[in-house]
Amino acid sequence: MRYYSTIKMLLLAMSCQLMILKGFAQTNVKLQVDGFNANTVISKHIYGHFSEHLGRCIYDGFWVGENSGIQNQGRIRLDIVDALKKIQIPNLRWPGGCFADEYHWRDGIGPRAQRPKMINTNWGNVTEDNSFGTHEFLELCSMLKCDPYITGNVGSGTVEEMSKWVEYLNFDGLSPMTEIRKQNGRDKPWGVKFWGVGNESWGCGGNMTPERYADEYKRYATFVKNYPNARMNKIAAGPNVADYNWTETMMKNVNAGQMWGLALHHYTLPTGNWGNKGSATSFDENEYFNTMKNCLYMEELVTKHSTIMDKYDAAKRVALVVDEWGIWTNVEPGTNPGFLYQQNSLRDAMVAATTLNIFNNHADRIRMANLAQTINVLQALILTEGNKMLLTPTYHVFDLYKAHQDAKLLPVKFSSPELVNGRNKIPALNVSASKDSNQVVHLTLVNLDPKNAMHINTAMNEVDWTKVEGQILTSPKLTDVNSFTQPNTVKPVVFNGAKKVGNELVVDLPAQSIVLLTLKK
Ligand code: AHR
Repeated sequence: MRYYSTIKMLLLAMSCQLMILKGFAQTNVKLQVDGFNANTVISKHIYGHFSEHLGRCIYDGFWVGENSGIQNQGRIRLDIVDALKKIQIPNLRWPGGCFADEYHWRDGIGPRAQRPKMINTNWGNVTEDNSFGTHEFLELCSMLKCDPYITGNVGSGTVEEMSKWVEYLNFDGLSPMTEIRKQNGRDKPWGVKFWGVGNESWGCGGNMTPERYADEYKRYATFVKNYPNARMNKIAAGPNVADYNWTETMMKNVNAGQMWGLALHHYTLPTGNWGNKGSATSFDENEYFNTMKNCLYMEELVTKHSTIMDKYDAAKRVALVVDEWGIWTNVEPGTNPGFLYQQNSLRDAMVAATTLNIFNNHADRIRMANLAQTINVLQALILTEGNKMLLTPTYHVFDLYKAHQDAKLLPVKFSSPELVNGRNKIPALNVSASKDSNQVVHLTLVNLDPKNAMHINTAMNEVDWTKVEGQILTSPKLTDVNSFTQPNTVKPVVFNGAKKVGNELVVDLPAQSIVLLTLKK
């Protein structure tokens, strides 16, 4: 008898070993979702996007040639508008980026043929013909039904120039700027609500010290007026990654009434090296691990910047606005290095899903974020080639995660299994949960482990539910992409790996997957 049970144990151990080798190992995890403490709203503006005059984001992206043959309305591409409306894009940041601090808005209004041309010095020294300007951008936002987020020029512009732009946009009375606006065909103001006072003022926006910028911020922001029915949420240029001194200086010198938000920029570089960032499509497990480690660094950044902000603003009036984030790889071979065109794989989806879970879980301080950038640039949602367009794996993450927009955050407790690489380790699981206004609960779970599945038992405390539905985004290889010939390689499908057992939610989460679960009564 003893002999047989030893053999049985041995066989079991061998089969487990085999499962591990074949990639079928399963780790057990316990999760607790707290339905009682739903106190923080996940602002929909965390799901914002960014479109700079850079490469093919605006020109040959949103904005097509007059005789392109591509379906458009006033030269704005309609298939793109439809795709972005589907994910409920809440806001769009424009015109930069570095471009914002060399952009002079008056060059981009009036008859197009008369608009002056300029050099886009940051992005390939190409000619910017200013055919896409204020009216075109605001028309795009109105077609997308999203809020415009405009970044004004501090680096090479004047206070007067910024102040007049705001008057042109938001004043509804008689004034020199509103007269010009009316001559240009727009009677009513647009009521723009989000305003960036410069961009990366520590770098391409003017190479300032934080002390200098804090003073400049107050001077410029004073003349960004709140017109009737158009209160402006002013956002200061914030720290570069871990520049905690920048945050400290801004919070010490600018009070909460003068600043709606403080920006933070952090990009995930697969190799961590700006000289050779790594390929978007060809990488091994080691580089994948490093990418996810660099992506998870966002958690530390957000925590530490928030702690500094708490010191000066315990009531959390000032938002942390992560208005540039995403993976930044080498450009696709053969493309203009100044255009930042990169492909988008399942790894990119992992980066997006993980970062959005971090943002959701910090929704008490993060009230806006913008992925860089919407089309054909960096971690794009959409790639175009002539009249063809494809939705990237990152797009599908935003489609799944839109369930969290403006829902109440539900705290989740768990101890994550580790993903180990040599002497380094990262948490293999990340999660966020929310309850929407119809009392529907959504969980987004990301298993970063490329080999091991997870068996998850979840206690749903104070959550009233009877059924669960799911969707999953995964693919056999982390390097899998959607291409113009095979645009549907990576896309969400129905997920049947979750069930209700008693009051527990039991999930079998496959390796390298992103899952959205919807729990209803
Ligand atoms: O998104 C590309 C560039 O990255 C932006 O123009 C700039 O703000 C940042 O350095």
